Amino acid sequence: MEVDSFAMNGGDGPTGYFVNSRFQRIQCDEAKALLQCSIQKHLVLPLDSKMSISKPVFRIADLGCSVGPNTFASVDSIIDAVTSEYKAKCLDSKIPEFQVFFNDQARNDFNTLFRNLPAERAYTAAGIPGSFHGRLFPMASVDIFHSASALHWLSGVPDEVKDPLSPAWNRGKVTYVESAPEVAEAYKAQFQKDIMEFFNARAMEIADNGLLAILMLCRPEGTAVSCSVAMDMFECLGHTLVDMVNEGLIEEALVDSFNMPLFFPTASEMTEVISEIQGIRTEVVEEIQCLREKSMLGDTSTMSLQLRAITEEILNKHFGPGIIDTIFQRMPQKFEEYLRSPSFAAEKLQNLFLLVKKVTVSSG
Ligand SMILES: C[S@@+](CC[C@H](N)C(=O)[O-])C[C@H]1O[C@@H](n2cnc3c(N)ncnc32)[C@H](O)[C@@H]1O
Repeated sequence: MEVDSFAMNGGDGPTGYFVNSRFQRIQCDEAKALLQCSIQKHLVLPLDSKMSISKPVFRIADLGCSVGPNTFASVDSIIDAVTSEYKAKCLDSKIPEFQVFFNDQARNDFNTLFRNLPAERAYTAAGIPGSFHGRLFPMASVDIFHSASALHWLSGVPDEVKDPLSPAWNRGKVTYVESAPEVAEAYKAQFQKDIMEFFNARAMEIADNGLLAILMLCRPEGTAVSCSVAMDMFECLGHTLVDMVNEGLIEEALVDSFNMPLFFPTASEMTEVISEIQGIRTEVVEEIQCLREKSMLGDTSTMSLQLRAITEEILNKHFGPGIIDTIFQRMPQKFEEYLRSPSFAAEKLQNLFLLVKKVTVSSG
């Protein structure tokens, strides 16, 4: 399989992710209390060799950070939670120094990220380019991993989905919703492989007693892979592309060979993978109703801009830059049709929060 590396729109201009990531910001805000409580409940303060609380460097990594600004808010939430835990135990003098690693694909616009780092911050910052589906850090070196709105990105589109001779060929669609069951199966298999690699790498990199917090859109438990409101939004893009084929604006073969490398799992599809990995275990699993995100769905122009910020590069690579404006001029109308259709079930738009902990094996 060809590994598709691409990034969100860079810069802080009008089509950049920086100004078009309010949906993801609301998700982080809605999960903030849960993130902080979970950290405080499961954090074990580091001890030094004399079994007193030591003052080491505390390392945090945000995986799939993009260009900001949401990553800065997430990091602040984590540092506040850790700092409060020290204060609650009257250990103010032992509050560690924080080092934050911002990770994303090498194509990510790290310059915009670094230019916009908060001036008043409680940490030193470093960038870590590379795919989170593989190793990024030394063994046992990160105290808290965090990842928001990123783990649904696959390492690439499964090969069979692009193969006209395969029963999983996804002709005229860009996702697995409304497609043959073989398409959804191919996507699910790709997700399981990718997410296994993700957790295997983190299990090695997470420090003793370390934590891994994940926030992502998910499907409600018990729903079929092909029933995904989050994915329906991306299939609206597919419908727009097919309209453009019918009007002679895009070649049909180009749409037939284009697919989004995305998968939205259920909570148990995540926890089943985690349970197979040695050295980590799931401590918190919560499905969160996307209440505030839903209120944003009526604003289809904003939805279109947000979709553009995350898909422009991948569309550009496949179709070329000439049709991008036309696609996104049409998207608000397509979203309106979808939101009015019987297949739109707002209550099925959900987030998943997971807290995973390193299991420390005692030597005795
Ligand atoms: C929608 S953005 C979320 C950004 C940020 N976490 C937030 O909450 O706004 C998803 C990010 O995940 C990154 N991403 C996708 N696949 C990745 C991978 N394999 N390794 C590292 N980053 C990845 C994308 O490049 C993108 O910047």
